Parts: sequence; structure tokens; C-alpha cells
Amino acid sequence: MATNSHWIDRDAAAVWHPFTQHSLWIDDGPTVVSEASGAWITDVDGRRFLDGVSSLWTTTVGHCHPDINAAIEKQLRTLDHSTFLGSTHKPGIELSEMLVNRAPTGDGPELSKVFYAGDGSSAVEIALKMAYQYSTQTGRPRDKFIRLNYAYHGDTLGAVAVGGHDLFHATYKPLLLETIGVPSPGDRSLGDDRVARAIVALEETMAEHGDNTCAIIVEPLMQGAAGMLDYDASYLRAVRRLADKYGALVIFDEVATGIGRTGTMWAAEQAEVVPDLLTCGKGITAGYLPLSAVLVAQHVYDAFLSQPDDDGPRTFFHGHTYTANPICCAAAIANLEVMDRDNVLGQAGRLAQRLDHLFKPLADHPEVTEIRQLGTMVGVEVTSLGERTGFQVCQAAREHGVWLRPLGDTVIVMPPLTLDESDTRLLVDGLGKAIDDVAGAR
Ligand SMILES: Cc1ncc(COP(=O)(O)O)c(C=O)c1O
Repeated sequence: MATNSHWIDRDAAAVWHPFTQHSLWIDDGPTVVSEASGAWITDVDGRRFLDGVSSLWTTTVGHCHPDINAAIEKQLRTLDHSTFLGSTHKPGIELSEMLVNRAPTGDGPELSKVFYAGDGSSAVEIALKMAYQYSTQTGRPRDKFIRLNYAYHGDTLGAVAVGGHDLFHATYKPLLLETIGVPSPGDRSLGDDRVARAIVALEETMAEHGDNTCAIIVEPLMQGAAGMLDYDASYLRAVRRLADKYGALVIFDEVATGIGRTGTMWAAEQAEVVPDLLTCGKGITAGYLPLSAVLVAQHVYDAFLSQPDDDGPRTFFHGHTYTANPICCAAAIANLEVMDRDNVLGQAGRLAQRLDHLFKPLADHPEVTEIRQLGTMVGVEVTSLGERTGFQVCQAAREHGVWLRPLGDTVIVMPPLTLDESDTRLLVDGLGKAIDDVAGAR
């Protein structure tokens, strides 16, 4: 049987990995995954690990779920791919209906149309372009986007422009759209009244730039890639109020928070605020295939319909080759059906409670700075012990059968929504032991 190191050598010779410093790649001992089932992944040497990050925040109902496998196999026998430009297909139509029926409700417009893309970043690009074009077609061009400090919306240039994470984004600054960063309501350095202070700062920024702002974009309630910075729903209500006051749109980027990750289908529901554009991706296909979508308010869609006295086209000139690929749509439909049938949102709610309960003792650990949680999304910030502390903890966790990823000194825990009780214990215990191991080796 081929061993991990055999495959790593071949990998190092031919592959360039995302977000990876390749001078460290081999020494870091990457995992060569060969199989996955439920909440578990297995490497080529047969070692099993609990997938504590849902394979980059995607897996909802577990790997290789029989119903989703069957739906993909069935779709493969009927239609593999057909363009969404000038033609349509059943899976694309059915999935759009399902997403619209599940759209959040509350303060804001009805989300009634769906535009597809492949990844979270491209969904964000679409939302930004739609917001700008909307402004040109409803009055006058507004070219400013307001975004939060520490935001992460993906790695394509538009998404980077509305990002605020220096490590990931600073290099590309000369290439980017100009955007306006505002204090994040999740920024602990602002103090205990951080949400109130962030609202005041947003009010001031809107007073200055609101008339030129086409949209405010936020990750609702939880800035994931910032290291799980959670914040209060009152901030989202302020975003909606101020956007309405100045005629700007609201974009909620639910690529990470959507599809049940926070314990509700959308984080927006917990604030009872509806944006004009909502992006989703990651868990939409249960973690199987690349698909993302933008849920769009009817008034935004209407602004793209030709009018008799127009001087130019109002068409949204955007599309990708694999937009709404039928196999991806079939996986997403099956995911939403399984979520309904098995009350996966209920399971996610119970998992969130279990995580909260089990993590409580770890909050008092001398090497833990803070534990931040929203639903099934958890960030365990460890005291920095020099270089790559979060990484060392994740490496140590593998020895306890748990696969995790850090963001700086914060270890991200985001298991599949259906994780059962004993696996949840194993996950939390494994992380606790890993922190002890790293602290003890100091
Ligand atoms: C909030 C948010 N938006 C967008 C993205 C980018 O998604 P993708 O990696 O699928 O392009 C991510 C990825 O982590 C994300 O967390």
C-alpha cells in the first residue's frame, strides 16, 4: 500500500497548495486523505481523524452521505452539464425555488431571485458588481463600498478589495478598488462597548460617504476568517437602518454562516434583518461540489429590466462557464431535502449547545485567551507561545485523532452539523489535550 510519505513526495514535486508556504510543506507533515465517511476522514496509511472543520467549513450532513451520493449518481445518468446562458434546466429551477422558499425574513426586502456561481469569492464578485450597476440604473453611479475591518470575503480581486485582513490582503492593495473600512463590532480591542462604538463609527462614515456608497458588505454575526469574531445582532439592524437612510444596498456574505452553520438556516434570521443581496456557498452542496449563489431582492432584479427610454442595456453582464451546473444543483437539492427530513437545523442547534457546554471548562485553561462561538462555529484562541501556536495545537490534535485548522492563534472548530454526542466529546477532549501537549512542551 502507498504510504503518506510516498504521496507527499509526489505532491511536492507537482502541486502548489492554497494558503501554503511550500518551504515548510514537507516538514509540516500534511495529511494525504484517501477516504471519508460521516464525520471522519482517513489517510492513505489508514489513520482516521475526526473532521473538526467540516473540510473547510463545507460538510453539513457528513461525508459520502448515501442520499446525496444517490442524487448525484441519478443526475449523472440524465444531464451532466448544460449552459445556463440561453437555456435552463430542472435542477437549476428547483434549487432556486428551494432557496427562495428558505430565504430569511424580517426587516428588509423579499429575496426572490437566485444568481449562481461556483465559489464564495465569485458570489461576492457578483454581489459587488450587481450593487454598483444597481446604483447606475436607479439614479447615479455610487462607487464606494463600506466593509468591516478584519473582513474576509474571498480571494478574487473584488472580494479582496472588501477584505480587511492585512496578512491576506495587504500585498494586493495597489491592484484594488478603493473601499472604506469601518471598525468591526467584533474587534475585542475596542472594549466591551465595541458594538456601540462600531455603530457610531458606521453612522459617521455614512454621514460622510453615504451618498456615494452603493453597498455595505458584512459577514453577519460572525467574522469567520478573522478568527471567529462574533458580534451582536444590533449591529446588523444599524447596517440596515443606515443603508436605507442613505439609499445604499446591504450585502450579507453568508458563505460561511449560511446553510445552518449558526444553528439557523441563515445568520440573518437571528437578527431578523434581510439584506438586498445574500451570498452563500460552502455548505450549499453539503460539501460535495463547488456551487455558490446570490439571493437577490426583487427591487434589485427589477432595476436590471430594460425600460423603453433606456440609452443602453441594463443586462447584468456576468456569467461563468459552469454557472448552475446540474450535478452541483442536484447535490444542493439533495442536501436541502436531507436537512428538512432529518431536521438538521434542530441537530445543529443541539450540537451548538453541546459544544457550548463541553467547551466551558476549557475557557478557564491558562493557555486559552478566549472561546468565541456562534452556533456550530467556534474559535478557541490560545495564548501565543511564539511562532505558529495555533498550527502546533492543530498538529498535536492529530495525535488525538482530531483534524483541525488554525487561523493565527485561533483554532477553528466547525464540525459537520450532524456530529453526534460521543464524537463531539472526542473533538473537544482532543483539542484540550492538544493545548496541554503544546503548553507542556514549552
Ligand atoms: C465569508 C466568506 N466569504 C467568502 C469566502 C470565499 O469563499 P470561496 O473560498 O469558496 O471562494 C469565504 C471563505 O472562507 C468566507 O468565509
